[in-house]
Amino acid sequence: MIQISTRKTGINKIINVPGDKSISHRAIMLGSISKGTTEIEGFLLGDDCLSTIDCFRQMGIDIEITDRKVIVHGKGLYGLKKPDNLLYTGNSGTTTRLLTGLLSGQNFSSEITGDSSIEKRPMKRVMTPIRQMGGNIEGNSDNYPPLKIKGSKLHGIEYSMPVASAQVKSAILLAGLYAKGETTIIEGYPSRDHTEIMLKYFGADIEKKMNTVILKETKELYAKPILVPSDISSAAYFIVAGLIVPGSHIIIPNVGVNVTRTGIITALRDMGGDIRVINRREANGEPIADIEVFSSELKGITIGGSIIPRMIDEIPVLAVAALFAEGETVIKDASELKVKESNRIKTMQEELSKLGANVTETDDGLIIVGKNKLHGAEINSHLDHRVAMSLYIAGLNIDGETVINDAECVNISFPNFYNII
Ligand code: S3P
Repeated sequence: MIQISTRKTGINKIINVPGDKSISHRAIMLGSISKGTTEIEGFLLGDDCLSTIDCFRQMGIDIEITDRKVIVHGKGLYGLKKPDNLLYTGNSGTTTRLLTGLLSGQNFSSEITGDSSIEKRPMKRVMTPIRQMGGNIEGNSDNYPPLKIKGSKLHGIEYSMPVASAQVKSAILLAGLYAKGETTIIEGYPSRDHTEIMLKYFGADIEKKMNTVILKETKELYAKPILVPSDISSAAYFIVAGLIVPGSHIIIPNVGVNVTRTGIITALRDMGGDIRVINRREANGEPIADIEVFSSELKGITIGGSIIPRMIDEIPVLAVAALFAEGETVIKDASELKVKESNRIKTMQEELSKLGANVTETDDGLIIVGKNKLHGAEINSHLDHRVAMSLYIAGLNIDGETVINDAECVNISFPNFYNII
């Protein structure tokens, strides 16, 4: 449980947020199956990424966690060993789905499962293309973990993605590393491309043309140092806090600004947010910048289509920004939110309503009428880290005390979150 009191003065601070969750997962996975040692700086030591480390340690990979770095002693593409026990992925959808692809091409069988939320996350979306590649996966009701994965000889496929999902795309690419021939993936709307960028950086022959990714048959990957930028998904909470709490000026250094992730900046700027992206640079193929935010008068907008995958994890906090915007905000084409750590359309509608917000749940999103009179209340995270953090930011700008139950789930992606402000 956490109590939040109204913020009486602006937030004037440099705020450092932890490393990018997606890139941290991928650094462990690709580091483990590369030849050589991968030194990772800025790694996110959150519960999800620790689950990934745990799984690879169980497959014989030596991974050191030091004060400044995580060091992965890779064993090459064919160096993993059969785990003695079931692999436990905790709350992590990324670990579960990406591992499903990677394990499908091994010369051993394995089994993976996670917590009660993972046991409700759909896996058919990964099983379908991997089966087309020759993979053998069985799941509960042919869709849910626990998953039994029989290592198989795989072959490349051409696959058109029915939903925009970087987890599915990445699972196919990781299986593709073990496949005979070329693996081609065609995306409707582009999803985050950290796997493609890191594979290229580690020496894979992979190219992207428009919405098509082609991975050539791979012999070996080679370790290289990784600098993990700060997570734009974690920065988003403080970008919104800076915009809505009057008199604020916040700088968030070293944020990953890969264009497949910056939808939240585009959307908040369209709402009138004064957000500046400065000091642009690059590390291991990923663009990085500092983000500067000034409190702003916001107005409602309509978002949908290709921007949604570029900000899928930030929609809960965008809904919070919309509470303080003039007029109506319509979020559509976001039905993927229903299959996240919680049904984020439903949970955000329910919890924001308890604070007095005018929020309607639709089939594929939310409609929020801004500037309703809000009040503190007792609300719930639904054990969803992004819901907890979004509600906390709302609480900063609401009269009266707000209490969030099951608030400690922020450890999934942002262990120090409540100590920042
Ligand atoms: C992720 C992809 C997204 C995102 C998740 C992390 C990744 O999921 O919501 O938090 O690291 O590939 P989907 O692939 O289901 O959209």
